[in-house]
Amino acid sequence: MIGKRFSSAAETYDRHARPQLSLAQSVISMLPEIYPEQILDLGAGTGLLTRMLTERFPDVPIDAVDVAEKMVEHSRARFARFPQINWIVGDAQTWWGGERYPLIVSSASLHWVADLRQTCENLFQNLEPDGILSLGMMLSGTLKELHELRNEIAPEKTPLLTLPTYVETKACLQEAGFVLERRKHSEEEIIYDDAKAFLKAIHEQGVTGGKVSAGNAPLNRTELSRLVADYQEKYASDGGVYATYETATFLLTK
Ligand SMILES: C[S@@+](CC[C@H](N)C(=O)[O-])C[C@H]1O[C@@H](n2cnc3c(N)ncnc32)[C@H](O)[C@@H]1O
Repeated sequence: MIGKRFSSAAETYDRHARPQLSLAQSVISMLPEIYPEQILDLGAGTGLLTRMLTERFPDVPIDAVDVAEKMVEHSRARFARFPQINWIVGDAQTWWGGERYPLIVSSASLHWVADLRQTCENLFQNLEPDGILSLGMMLSGTLKELHELRNEIAPEKTPLLTLPTYVETKACLQEAGFVLERRKHSEEEIIYDDAKAFLKAIHEQGVTGGKVSAGNAPLNRTELSRLVADYQEKYASDGGVYATYETATFLLTK
């Protein structure tokens, strides 16, 4: 399901990906002075992080894996002049390409997986001994204003999936065997022009229509108008509206 939703968002994602951009930057800036022989980018999507990898590590082969087939096709075409990137359709929970990597990165992707524990174990399997994982995650406080408001307007239509918490994520990684070297945990408020622009942006990031911000049934027309009007009033800031993104970046070794 997630694959399909992100596929349809592939065309528009980058124009609306401000929180994802700062998370990808954080994943890169956390890396120590290394020059790996090969890199695995999990949940590579439209290649925001992948692109930064090509700048930091020119000519290093990158396996860019994403579960959404259309997203992979789109990125393969878009990055045609980067022959070092190998675009692959695969699920981060189970993906195994037959060899271990000295560096694995992932940004704004793995909070979507159905089984975070299994995913952390699979990341551990995919990493070489002494290898490095730099992981950027969106966490449970993300879009908390929208969640509160949805809960007021249509409590029976609660989201089907909540994003993992910081504590859960850290525990999963450590229980899988990773050693936590560095971490950054932050909450950022992003300002949008108005409530409509905000809802459009998160839809085009592939965030809505899915289990995190959409409920088990869609809002009807009246509920949706109320959501827009109430969001505009309740979360007004700096001439627009704000939305919170809770993120964490972890630097881990095996
Ligand atoms: C918000 S995008 C982030 C893309 C990119 N890493 C970036 O920094 O902008 C999330 C991506 O994760 C992918 N994804 C979600 N679940 C996945 C899974 N289980 N395995 C691999 N990719 C997954 C989606 O298809 C989507 O392309």
